[in-house]
Amino acid sequence: MSRLSAERKETLLRRYGSQGINAGAGPGGRRPGGFGGPGASRVGMKGRPKNISATISRLLSYIGQDKVKILFVFACVLGGNLSSLGGSYILRPVINNLVYPGLSAEEKIKNLVIGILVMAGIYLVGAVCIYLQRKIMIGVSQKALVKIREELFHKIQKLPLKYHDTHAHGDIMSRFTNDLDSVGEMLNHTMVQVFSAVLTLLGTVILMFVTNWLLAIVTLTTVPLLVYAGGIIGKQSRKYFTGQQQAIGAVNGYIEETIAGQKVIKVFSHEETAMEEFAFLSDELQKKQVRAQFFGGIMGPVIGNLSQISYAITATVGGILCLTANFDIGGLTIFANYSRQFSMPINELSMQMNIIFAALAGAERVFEVMDETPEAADPEEAIEICSEANRAEGARVVKGEVELKNVTFGYIPGKAVLKNINITAKPGQKVAFVGSTGAGKTTITNLINRFYELEEGEILIDGINIKQIKKDSLRSNIAMVLQDTHLFSGTVRENIRYGRLDATDEEVVAAAKISCAHSFIERLPQGYDTLLDGDGANLSQGERQLLNIARAAISKAPILILDEATSSVDTRTEKYIERGMDQLMKDRTTFVIAHRLSTVRNADKIIVLENGEIIEQGTHEELLEKGGRYYQLYTGAIELD
Ligand SMILES: Nc1ncnc2c1ncn2[C@@H]1O[C@H](COP(=O)(O)OP(=O)(O)OP(=O)(O)O)[C@@H](O)[C@H]1O
Ligand SMILES: [Mg+2]
Repeated sequence: MSRLSAERKETLLRRYGSQGINAGAGPGGRRPGGFGGPGASRVGMKGRPKNISATISRLLSYIGQDKVKILFVFACVLGGNLSSLGGSYILRPVINNLVYPGLSAEEKIKNLVIGILVMAGIYLVGAVCIYLQRKIMIGVSQKALVKIREELFHKIQKLPLKYHDTHAHGDIMSRFTNDLDSVGEMLNHTMVQVFSAVLTLLGTVILMFVTNWLLAIVTLTTVPLLVYAGGIIGKQSRKYFTGQQQAIGAVNGYIEETIAGQKVIKVFSHEETAMEEFAFLSDELQKKQVRAQFFGGIMGPVIGNLSQISYAITATVGGILCLTANFDIGGLTIFANYSRQFSMPINELSMQMNIIFAALAGAERVFEVMDETPEAADPEEAIEICSEANRAEGARVVKGEVELKNVTFGYIPGKAVLKNINITAKPGQKVAFVGSTGAGKTTITNLINRFYELEEGEILIDGINIKQIKKDSLRSNIAMVLQDTHLFSGTVRENIRYGRLDATDEEVVAAAKISCAHSFIERLPQGYDTLLDGDGANLSQGERQLLNIARAAISKAPILILDEATSSVDTRTEKYIERGMDQLMKDRTTFVIAHRLSTVRNADKIIVLENGEIIEQGTHEELLEKGGRYYQLYTGAIELD
């Protein structure tokens, strides 16, 4: 028996369910291979697209370059349809030939064989058309999809950090997976299928009129019935499909979160609750799925059965016409076929509509990212810089003096995180930032690196405003160990070399030695060739930090920023690193952020930040003498928040 309260159930459905349905905010709910699979999210999940015509024309522009191929594809579809309709029409003279009284048996057989051969020929042409159409269309649509995917990825690389900080990663991921999948589905098949269904419908109606206009009118009277029934079932089915997709989103979102948080679940012994909550969500999914699948499944049979009614009417009226109005038997036979065929494209169109809507909604989400404002482009006159040790042609050599002048900054307008900061770091100096959590230390480094654009005040490197320096050049001259470590899938060597791609193997080892990573790397099963996976999950937190330091150490950048770089390594290793780094820092300007004050003791300048303001600065000795905030922190008179 579930012990979950009604309130908790409601919360679960809302929290995880809405993740799955609201524009893909649920990371798990929308990844392929998940519960719903890529296709499952097609129907209803993304809601209706907002600007259909603009999205369609933009989407078509991707296949627009292949106009000739597309025209050929449509010609093939037309050919396929004509052959199928034409082939069936030939049946009329073939049958009439058999019942025609004025012909001998021999002539009848001869005509029959000719008729059947002609039919076979027509169907063969149709088959070739369909083969060509599929093959060419898949090629065209895959090419378009690759282009969209690459453009999207390109855009993601160009978006400012602010975008990534304010958008769920799962949501961005889902644009590459589910959204692109549904676009692909539409480009691959749906477009052609819709065109083909419309052609079949038109062709069938025309042939009905050609065969017998009176009978055609009688048959078409049942169309409103078909459309009405299709509409009702479609509406119900869409409703339940939406519910099903919400439930899939909820289940997937829950799975994703519990897997990612498995450790925390175990730490707090929440396994039982997790299982109960999952069982509840799973039951909800089952209930919704049963209804959705039921309505989804009866559309075909209901329309099929209704069309039997029209078939019966057609047969009866057709039979009467044969007896009374000289309507030929061959005509009646093919007409009966048409009246049966006729419901199929209607059925097909109603099903394709959902896919089209989902694809357009997906395309809109993809285009939305593509339309985001990228990082500001470098101004025309922007220059490149380089260090003495790593001279580059055409680049201005900088020594590494960094100056912050009257810097005021807030992530959110009107909410200043840094207030009127003035700092000068001479080349080769070591400047340390200390201060409580949230004081603004990392923010300063974000600004030096231009992860965020400065609005008030300026930052200068060797007297050059960083806005006048090409972003790439600026960043490649600042080596950084970020507060959040990140390692890529690859070998240890590759991960260290990420700091400078042209570094030799010897330089990799030297950097590892400086950062004290060498000895643990040597102990790894394949040493420097050991593969790291999942952000270095097979390493300890401290080891991961050492690799990040080595990555910064290998770079020849004149400016070095270490944000809590040694927070997870033991104090003894930290001492060793410091010794090694002293060598490295000798001719670099270094900014160090550390909560452990022993790390910053030997800095040339220590800056104490509080609530985004500099409240004290000076050397270790000066600050201790002053007996202010730093003194209190250092002597343990107060603890860091
Ligand atoms: N991307 C962001 N968007 C909005 N506010 C942010 C963002 N990053 C940080 N902040 C806010 O800015 C303030 C300063 O953050 P910052 O990361 O600079 O602190 P910190 O001094 O590095 O703290 P810690 O010692 O915990 O690393 C905090 O109040 C934080 O909530
Ligand atoms: Mg920080």
